[in-house]
Amino acid sequence: MRSAWRWLATIGLVGMALFVVAACGGGSDNESSSTTTSETSGTPQIDAANLPVDFSEMAKLKDLASEGKGLVGVLLPDTTTSARYVQYDAPFLKKAFETAGLSSDQFKIDNAHGSTSTMQQQAEADITAGASVLLVDPLDPGSGAAIESNAESKGVKVIDYDRLVTGGPKDRYYVSFNNVEVGKLIGQGMVDCIGAWKVSKPQLLVMSGDPKDNNAKLFAQGYNGVLDPKFSDSTYVKVGAPAGTWDPPTAATEFEQQFTAHPNINAVVTPNDDNANAVIAVLLKNKVKANTFPTTGQDAAPTGLQNILKGYQCGTVYKLPYAEPQAAAALALYLRAGKTPPSTLVNATTRDSQLNADIKSVYTKPVWVTKSNMKDTVIADNVIPISQICGGKMAQVCAANGIQ
Ligand code: GAL
Repeated sequence: MRSAWRWLATIGLVGMALFVVAACGGGSDNESSSTTTSETSGTPQIDAANLPVDFSEMAKLKDLASEGKGLVGVLLPDTTTSARYVQYDAPFLKKAFETAGLSSDQFKIDNAHGSTSTMQQQAEADITAGASVLLVDPLDPGSGAAIESNAESKGVKVIDYDRLVTGGPKDRYYVSFNNVEVGKLIGQGMVDCIGAWKVSKPQLLVMSGDPKDNNAKLFAQGYNGVLDPKFSDSTYVKVGAPAGTWDPPTAATEFEQQFTAHPNINAVVTPNDDNANAVIAVLLKNKVKANTFPTTGQDAAPTGLQNILKGYQCGTVYKLPYAEPQAAAALALYLRAGKTPPSTLVNATTRDSQLNADIKSVYTKPVWVTKSNMKDTVIADNVIPISQICGGKMAQVCAANGIQ
């Protein structure tokens, strides 16, 4: 079983996941099937639900890549809020473009290091260098929309990457997940973990990502939807919900203040692995024991995976980090070649509440990874060198979990 997809298929979750994605808010599958036109005949049929870890589907795009013109520019937000941007997005986007046959001067991947003006300058530089497509993962929707409308006015096609640029051009595309579903996985993961770790009288702190990030709102919508009934029927107590951040040191401070004020807190919804890691450092300082105090996460960051194995984090949303970049690269290549992407790729729509419009979207699927399925998913996919998870002192912990 090499890939998570084969693993999923084996236990029959693909169908279930498709059903869940179709049934949840944040977008609806197949509404955009009208995007398949005769223009797509003769072009490769890339399927967002089947983008394997070996990137082999990308090789089908070689003719498309040679038909297209101009640079594909990718604008990533930062390197500190999640390991994903350096660990996964940048290298996997590069691999996808290269496997599809783009040469190194035909794409450019930048990181704005948390600065909107840097992202703006990077976008300008891409346009000057002849960009025909820009992928924008914005620091906030306003700065992203400014970049996108400027790019469109110069004939550049734009794609929102991972985070929706609410208020961006109406005819843009979006590549991401059903992010409400991502949040539901976090919420359900917390509920399951509270049961498994036998947390009595759960007293939860519900943390969130940066409110400027549209995804953070959708994640919260997802986990609050799972947890609110538990609060209303008094199964759990909601101790608080701090303002929200993607900055791990700020998350640590938010948590520490709450934990000092309410030492009875015994579970925390943390929205990603890097925030969870910051909170776990505070727990360790307070000598909290393993498998007693649930935290959650997303992104399958190496630290997150280690915290799961050590019993300080219940699970992480594994956003098949090789699938989203491949889906985005494929979409960029269709647009760059002036072709309509197939409905197997553009498989959803997402509501832009600011425009009051549905944005054509590409969704790939998230998977909740815990101690019990890590070996068959993240480890089997080999997306991270095992030494990054099981090196040094972690070797014993990994071995105890059957991972080596
Ligand atoms: C979200 C993204 C997550 C995580 C977070 C922090 O928008 O979807 O994967 O990286 O931002 O940067």
